[in-house]
Amino acid sequence: MAKEEPIRYICSHCGFSTVTRTGKCPSCGNWGTLAATLPLVATAVGTKPKAEMVSSVSVVPPARLSSGIAELDRVLGGGLVPGGVVLIGGQPGIGKSTLLLQAGGLVASKETPVLYISGEESSAQVALRASRLGVASENLMLYCGNNLEDALSNLGTQRVGLFILDSVQAVKAPGETGWPGTPNQVRAVAQLSVDCARAANIPAVLVGHITKDGRLAGPMLLEHMVDTVLTFSGEGYSSYRMLRAIKNRYGNTDELGVFEMKENGLASVDDKSGLYWNRTDAGVPGVAMTVAMEGSTPLIAEVQTLASLTAFPYPKRTSRGIELNRFQLLTAVLEKRSGIACSGHDLYLNIAGGLSIQDPSADLAACAALASALKNIPLRGDCCYMGEVGLAGEVRPVVRLAARLKEAERLGFKRAIVSDKERDEQFSGQLDLVRVNSLTDALKIGGI
Ligand code: TYD
Ligand code: MG
Repeated sequence: MAKEEPIRYICSHCGFSTVTRTGKCPSCGNWGTLAATLPLVATAVGTKPKAEMVSSVSVVPPARLSSGIAELDRVLGGGLVPGGVVLIGGQPGIGKSTLLLQAGGLVASKETPVLYISGEESSAQVALRASRLGVASENLMLYCGNNLEDALSNLGTQRVGLFILDSVQAVKAPGETGWPGTPNQVRAVAQLSVDCARAANIPAVLVGHITKDGRLAGPMLLEHMVDTVLTFSGEGYSSYRMLRAIKNRYGNTDELGVFEMKENGLASVDDKSGLYWNRTDAGVPGVAMTVAMEGSTPLIAEVQTLASLTAFPYPKRTSRGIELNRFQLLTAVLEKRSGIACSGHDLYLNIAGGLSIQDPSADLAACAALASALKNIPLRGDCCYMGEVGLAGEVRPVVRLAARLKEAERLGFKRAIVSDKERDEQFSGQLDLVRVNSLTDALKIGGI
């Protein structure tokens, strides 16, 4: 049996480390500052790195550990990085524990033993959930309790290759007073987790609670301390969940992961455009298609509008998915620049599927849909519109046109109406690309 390492005492004032217990720190002379620390923690705290030449540092990319969930790996930039710490935040009940238990179970059964620390649930609850999710692997170790030091002492006993802490607000760090969840505790818990992950050179995933206004609870420092910050979100009425990176030292922050919450856990959604696009509506007046960008993911979006004669002196304008002010501006441009009278109608706009589009690339589709509704002429179902509409009625270019066109083509669109100011991008597909100068031209091509 390997010889057990002695307990070390570390000074909380100067960081001096010793194996003998003394009242006074031999290094800085402070009294009562030495606290017992576990061997692994001592190594983590005791390492004092020296400056080195940048050219002598190894730049071989670290071998990543797959979480077993493709969508999660993609958002992480290709998997978990040894020594890297991921923090995942989200509303209560959104599925953080489910996602991590699934990932932990898959890593344990395929790759390496995993330590799952839960400060919120009992072993029985976690084990029941693991078996319901079908991931109750022998290599998945559970520690349920709120003493982080005890929990992390299990890292050395088995050859644990990943630890998960659910959550940073529910456990206590050694030597820190106060209730779990207080700013000092949260900081100390995160610091110890980061130190242990680095010292053991294994990845760690921490769960973080969020406050009512959607920020991660605890000090802002928390986000700075970790390598990757993910947010897990979704609407209350929908079973879809979105995973995004808001900070990633090991990958980009553009990727969107989509999951569906089912009875047996979270399932990855591969065809994301299918979420927001209802193919059968083509041929109805008032509907136009566009491709919106969600990070680097292009999504087909369906702009639906309705125009009904108004019974009021002030016609009604209702918009969901595009900001109301923008919608009102577009109706004014449509009336003034393209001569399509809007003022006698109540106008409603909705982006199907609850998608919300921030960038102005959906302007052209919104105008085309409105014109189609007002004239009662359906647009071609296999045509999509991408462009910003200016106050002069001109059509302007959009960002990442090539990616949007590729997605439109993949889903069977035949024609795209874009601005004539678009640079000749590297798009080499079969799509019939129609370049227009103004909104009026775009509507003419659409048959209005
Ligand atoms: P949970 O992972 O506990 O959320 P969080 O840790 O973010 O607070 O998810 C809880 C919700 O997920 C709960 O309301 C029930 C639902 N759920 C399912 O629909 N299917 C499942 O297989 C599981 C485990 C949970
Ligand atoms: Mg939870």
